[in-house]
Amino acid sequence: MNLIKQQPKHFVSLDTLTLEEIMGMIEESLRYKQGDMPPLFDGKTVANLFFENSTRTKNSFQMAERHLKIQEIPFDVATSSVTKGETLYDTCKTLEAIGVDALVIRHPEDGYYHELVEKLSIPVLNGGDGSGEHPSQSLLDLVTIYEEYKTFQGLNVAICGDLVHSRVARSNASVLKRLGANVVGCSPESWWDDSMGLVHRDIDDILPDCDVIMLLRVQHERHIMGDIFSKEDYHARFGLTVERVERMKPGAIIMHPAPVNRDVEIAGSLIEHRQSRIFPQMTNGVYARMAILHRALGGQL
Ligand code: NCD
Repeated sequence: MNLIKQQPKHFVSLDTLTLEEIMGMIEESLRYKQGDMPPLFDGKTVANLFFENSTRTKNSFQMAERHLKIQEIPFDVATSSVTKGETLYDTCKTLEAIGVDALVIRHPEDGYYHELVEKLSIPVLNGGDGSGEHPSQSLLDLVTIYEEYKTFQGLNVAICGDLVHSRVARSNASVLKRLGANVVGCSPESWWDDSMGLVHRDIDDILPDCDVIMLLRVQHERHIMGDIFSKEDYHARFGLTVERVERMKPGAIIMHPAPVNRDVEIAGSLIEHRQSRIFPQMTNGVYARMAILHRALGGQL
C-alpha cells in the first residue's frame, strides 16, 4: 500500500507548471478537439464556486465536466451560507468534507487561493482571482495560438488595453514569454503595469509585425476612480478599429477573452472577422478545461 499522501493537483497559476506540462496540456486539449476522449470520471464530483459573474468560464467548465461525466454539485453563492458570513476557507472545507473531489473557484480577491492550497486536500482550479491570474483562460489562449502557428517561439504577440486590471494579461504575459514569444504591451499610461515585464509600444507601431493581437476588456468594475476615457475616445486611440485591421499582417489573428465591449476594444464589425479567433477561443476553452479537470482528478491518458 502506498502510504505517501499525493499532493492535490491544484491549477492556480501556469507559473507552477513546467513548460513540458503546459505543452502536454495544449496537445491534450487539441486531441480532445479532434474527438479523442480520456477515461470518463463517472462518480467524481466537482463544485463550481463563482463569487464573480461569469458566462464563458463557468459554462465552459460545466460543459467540460459533462463531457467527462463528472457530476456537478450545484453551488450558488447567493443562497449559500456565505451570505451568513461563512469564510471562503470554511465553505471549501465543507465541500471537501461532504465528498466533493475538486473545486473550481472564481473570486474577486487577488491570490484568494493561497490559504486553500495550503490546507485543502482536494484540488483548487482557479477560474480567475481578482486582477491576479486566469490560468484556464490562458491555457485556452495558448491552445488557440498553437493551433494556428504550431509554435510560440519568436511569435510577436501584443497584449492591448487595460493591462493593470487584467488577470488575463498577467497570466498570458508570463507564460508566453516563458514559451519564447516576443510579447509587448499597448495600453494607456494609467493602465500600464511594469510588473508584467513587457515593453510598452504604441498600437499603431506594432500592427504590421504582430502575429497575435490580444485585446483586453476595459474592466469598468475594477475602476474605482470611474472611467477616464469616453468609449469613442478609447476606441479611436487604443482600440482595434476597422482602419487599423487593414494594417495587420494578412495571417495575423485577433483574440479577446470576452465579454467584449463592442466598439470600444474592437469595432463590433470585426468580432467575427476572418482573422478573429474570439469564438474559436471559447470553443477551445471547453477542451482546455477538460485537460485541466483530467489532470486534477488524476486520470491516466
Ligand atoms: C475574462 C475574465 O473574467 O477575467 N473573461 C473570461 O473569463 N472569459 C476577461 C474579462 O472579464 O475581461
